[in-house]
Amino acid sequence: MSKALPADTRLLEHTGITMPIICGAMYPCSNPELVAAASESGGIGIVQPISLTYVHGHNFREGLRYIRRLTDKPVGMNALIEQSTKRYHERMQQWIDIALEEGVRFFVTSLGKPGWVVEKVHAVGGIVYHDTTNRKFAEKGLEGGVDGLICVNNRAGGHAGQNSAAELYEELVDLEVPLICAGGISTSREYQQVMELGYAGVQMGTAFIASTECNASAEYKQAIVDSQESDIVLSERITGVPVSVIRTSTIDRMGTQPGPLARWLLKGNKTKHLMRMLYAMRSIVQLKKSLLDKTGTRDFWQAGKSVAGVDQVKSVADIMRAMVSP
Ligand SMILES: Cc1cc2nc3c(=O)[nH]c(=O)nc-3n(C[C@H](O)[C@H](O)[C@H](O)COP(=O)(O)O)c2cc1C
Repeated sequence: MSKALPADTRLLEHTGITMPIICGAMYPCSNPELVAAASESGGIGIVQPISLTYVHGHNFREGLRYIRRLTDKPVGMNALIEQSTKRYHERMQQWIDIALEEGVRFFVTSLGKPGWVVEKVHAVGGIVYHDTTNRKFAEKGLEGGVDGLICVNNRAGGHAGQNSAAELYEELVDLEVPLICAGGISTSREYQQVMELGYAGVQMGTAFIASTECNASAEYKQAIVDSQESDIVLSERITGVPVSVIRTSTIDRMGTQPGPLARWLLKGNKTKHLMRMLYAMRSIVQLKKSLLDKTGTRDFWQAGKSVAGVDQVKSVADIMRAMVSP
C-alpha cells in the first residue's frame, strides 16, 4: 500500500477528496473555519449543525455559504437523527434539505434509522455513511441503505465504542462497504496501523481541536497538548451514555456517574430518552460556555485518548500532512 493512498479507495471515490481523512463533526468544536480547512487541505470537514448555528452564530444556510467562500472542495454534514422530539426531527429535515440545496453531497448519520436521510441524499446522487460501534448498529444502517460505515472504537473522542479498531474491523469487514476508523488517531504510526488493517480512511476529532483553525480557547487546546491517555475519563453525566472528557476540576466536581434518580430514569425504556434529553440540554449550554471561555476557569472539555499523540498546536494542513507522510 502506498503511504498516501489506501488499498480501499472507495471513500476517495465517494467524496472526491484526495486524502482519506475526515475531520469528524464535533459539538461544540466544529467552527466553519475548521471544517473548511479540513476540506481545503485535501480531506473532508463535516459540518455539525448545532455547532454551526447555536455555538458559532451562523444562520445554517449562510454558514454553509461562508464555508463555501473559504473552500470550493467537498464538505460533509453530520445528521444526528435520534428522534428525541418532533421539533428536532423537523429541524434536522430542514437542515438536510438546505445542505442538499447548497451542494453538500456527503452525510454522516449518527443513531436512529438513516433510511429517510439516504432516500433524500441518494435522490441527488449523494452519499451517506453511518456511525456505528458494533454489528447491530451497522446492520441497522445498512438496512437503511447507507454507503459506508464510520467505525467508532473504544479510543474515540465523543461517544466512545467498546471495541478496538482491529476488533471492529474484523466484526464488520464482511459487510462489504467501506469502513472508516474513528478514534484514537493522532500520529502517523496510528494512521498507518489502521490503514494496514484495511480501513478505507480515518475520522479524527481530538487532534483537530488542537489546530490553529479551531475556535476552542487556548486553554482547551493546551489541555489537549498536555494530557496523557490516563487523563481521559468517560462521563455519563453529559448525554446519559459514556462520553470521553479530560479529567479536570470541573469533571471531578461533577462526577462521572449519574445520581440515583437519573440512574433510575436512565434504566426505564420510556424515561431514558427524557433523561438523556435533559442531560444533553444542560451539557449543550455548558460545553458552549467552556469552548469560548477565555479565562480558563471553565474546564469542561471533551477529548479522546488520542491526546497522547498531540504535542503542539498546528495548522490543519500540517496535521493532515504529518498523518500521510511521516
Ligand atoms: C469534542 C468532540 C465532540 C464530538 N461531537 C460529535 C458530534 O456532535 N457528532 C458526531 O457524530 N461525533 C462527534 N464526535 C466524534 C468525532 O466526530 C470523531 O468520530 C471522534 O472524535 C474520533 O475520535 P478521536 O477524537 O480520537 O479522533 C465528537 C468528538 C469530540 C472529540
